[in-house]
Amino acid sequence: MSPARIETLAVHAGMRVDSGTGAVTPAIHPSTTFERDPDGSYPRGFVYARNANPNRVALEECLAALEGGEEAAAFASASAATSAILLALKPGDHVVAPIDAYHGTLRLLRETFAPWGLETTFVDMTDVAAARAAMRASTRLVWVETPSNPMWKITDVVAIGELASRAGAHYVCDNTTATPILQSPFKLGADLVLHATTKYLGGHGDVLGGAVVTRTRGELFDRVRAVQASGGAVPSPFDCWLVRRGIRTLPYRMRAHSENALKVAAFLHGHARVEAVHYPGLATHPAHEVARRQMSAFSGMVSVQVRGDRARAIDVAAKLRVFTRATSFGGTESLVEHRASIEGAGTRTPENLLRLSIGLEHPDDLIDDFEQALA
Ligand SMILES: Cc1ncc(COP(=O)(O)O)c(C=O)c1O
Repeated sequence: MSPARIETLAVHAGMRVDSGTGAVTPAIHPSTTFERDPDGSYPRGFVYARNANPNRVALEECLAALEGGEEAAAFASASAATSAILLALKPGDHVVAPIDAYHGTLRLLRETFAPWGLETTFVDMTDVAAARAAMRASTRLVWVETPSNPMWKITDVVAIGELASRAGAHYVCDNTTATPILQSPFKLGADLVLHATTKYLGGHGDVLGGAVVTRTRGELFDRVRAVQASGGAVPSPFDCWLVRRGIRTLPYRMRAHSENALKVAAFLHGHARVEAVHYPGLATHPAHEVARRQMSAFSGMVSVQVRGDRARAIDVAAKLRVFTRATSFGGTESLVEHRASIEGAGTRTPENLLRLSIGLEHPDDLIDDFEQALA
């Protein structure tokens, strides 16, 4: 479709009225195989569902349009999408990655790809000098995640991108928390964008998915595409349909998540029984100015360190009534999680930290809930 504003893209990109039936809402195509013409050709472009299917194409077109990229490849989870990017590299290649990335990304790099032959240097990406010092002649990939899960640290995407570009390395930004509504990594220098569509894009806690979006077609993305088809970690047609449906309301949900989160974060920041609040929308966040430069709002994820120990944090979570105690984020309902418990041994997450996914309830109900739980 012709260039449009993001709200319009969220509704229309990749969507077509069905020419056979006139159906406005797309059908779900569970077929795994597609008919050839008598001459043996596939004029409709579909052969076998692992390679492509109509629901996946609609989702991929939409994701590419939202990020302002050329193409996207959808996967069964963001972890599968991350694996595809890493498999597109070669044993012996060097990766520079954030020390505080999503713990599943760190685990993949350490436990799966280190034995496979990828060397990774983990650095604090908020320290540009440390990232510069980590670069080597063999560096092929620089990975950033901003805001980073679960401390919501902010990486200066432009500054790290300059290092990647000077080294001739591919530059990936995990844009899961900001979403394309709040942050446009391609405009800040990224080559690839990663999404856990499980979170805000799906938006309703009912579908697992991931995606790689590329700014321009090239060798690396071609390899990601090849891994998608040959590895087969692809989302089902129904999964693609659900994510595409969730995206229709994404711009409006992200505004509400961000507004609610700012209110809850401000309340917690002023509370006597709170030690620290981590939210890039607060002026007290160490990289608030960087966040303001590269994000249009600050998303719905807040972490709070209560005064006290692990037991006190778990007790506060137990007393909350509107928040549900569960992992993951990005749905309509607010979630609370004692993050160190799920990350397990070796976690760097403070034991008194609760991670909050701020949902679409009335913010005053969320604030009242914390008021009573902290009392
Ligand atoms: C920032 C980030 N990236 C990637 C992932 C992995 O997503 P998935 O569970 O779909 O593999 C997560 C999951 O929480 C995440 O928070």
